[in-house]
Amino acid sequence: VKANPHPVLVAAVAALGVDVEISSTGELAAVLAAGIAADRALYTGPAKTVDELAHAVREGVRRFSVESEPDRDRLVAAAGSPVDYLVRLHADRAGGAAGAVGLRMTGAPAQFGVDAAALRPGAALLEPAGSTRPVGFHVFSATNIADEDALLAEFEAAVVVAAGTAERTGFTPAVVDLGGGFGAPFAVPGDRPDYPRLRAGLARLLDARLPGWRRGTPAVAVESGRYLMAAAGTLLTTVMDVKSRAGRTFVICDAGVNALGGMSGLGRLLPAAQPRGRTGDAAPVVLVGPLCTPLDVLSRSARVGQPAAGDVLAVPNVGAYGLTASLVAFLGRPLPVEVVIDGDRVVDARQMHVTSSVSAGDGAR
Ligand SMILES: Cc1ncc(COP(=O)(O)O)c(C=O)c1O
Repeated sequence: VKANPHPVLVAAVAALGVDVEISSTGELAAVLAAGIAADRALYTGPAKTVDELAHAVREGVRRFSVESEPDRDRLVAAAGSPVDYLVRLHADRAGGAAGAVGLRMTGAPAQFGVDAAALRPGAALLEPAGSTRPVGFHVFSATNIADEDALLAEFEAAVVVAAGTAERTGFTPAVVDLGGGFGAPFAVPGDRPDYPRLRAGLARLLDARLPGWRRGTPAVAVESGRYLMAAAGTLLTTVMDVKSRAGRTFVICDAGVNALGGMSGLGRLLPAAQPRGRTGDAAPVVLVGPLCTPLDVLSRSARVGQPAAGDVLAVPNVGAYGLTASLVAFLGRPLPVEVVIDGDRVVDARQMHVTSSVSAGDGAR
């Protein structure tokens, strides 16, 4: 749901039979607003608080991903009724080539999961505690892998760590969540990658290491993430001004990193946005947003033909990690209206607002 929590889109994919993975009270609210039963959610995250876990249990979430013993202890403290959990595994061994992946969560030092190699038979996390019980393993290896062989290599590493941990500990997982890593273009024209050999390749890996999967023991899940949402969003932004400075052209738009690509500061792909249908022969321009900082850059070399004030640029493939992954509160500008279109019909239009209120917590005066 992190890829895009818009309730209309979440409801649309859930209607196709996809369950949801959530990591916060806000994402849970989006799922409930979409009319999805909370027991279809897997609740994940490396720093879940007792309060948020208790809230999730009260709302009907029944399955969690547990990242450590303290994380499991907090779930025990929060759970007033029976809940299941998957033990999230971290492995030292990477699957594919380093350059082929976006962000890596296992196979390199990272904060997620428990050290799979350290789990022994009878490990505390593999035993029920309070009203919680372990039912399987969760692995999430890396993101945005366009190359099919590299993606298969990540799944192989995930299957190996899940099956290897099961064999070594004697714990039989009823569920194995292999994570995802499916690729999609971001803020540039193009299609999602096809993975024509993935299904057969993954089936071979599972037959070799978790052969009961064909009977549903374990049940195998993957996390589709951005692959479902990325193509479902286009940012329309109006050119407000065009300025030439020392041979460079700055195209100043009314949407910047407050609406798109705020995570570029985290190395997430921008600044390289490319509006659709605007290529032309003209020299590349610097595409900037409305914020009062030279860091508000959507692209350092976009092709936009002959830009002029009043032009509307369409940045495609921003359905995943678009508005909600942006610096929405920075400079406090009104946020874009999100319009959902089904065919040629507008089915929803809404605007997110950042608000604040005086906290009534301890110490408030
Ligand atoms: C546990 C987990 N699930 C799902 C996702 C979403 O995957 P994607 O990057 O394909 O949108 C991520 C990405 O960071 C993740 O860490």
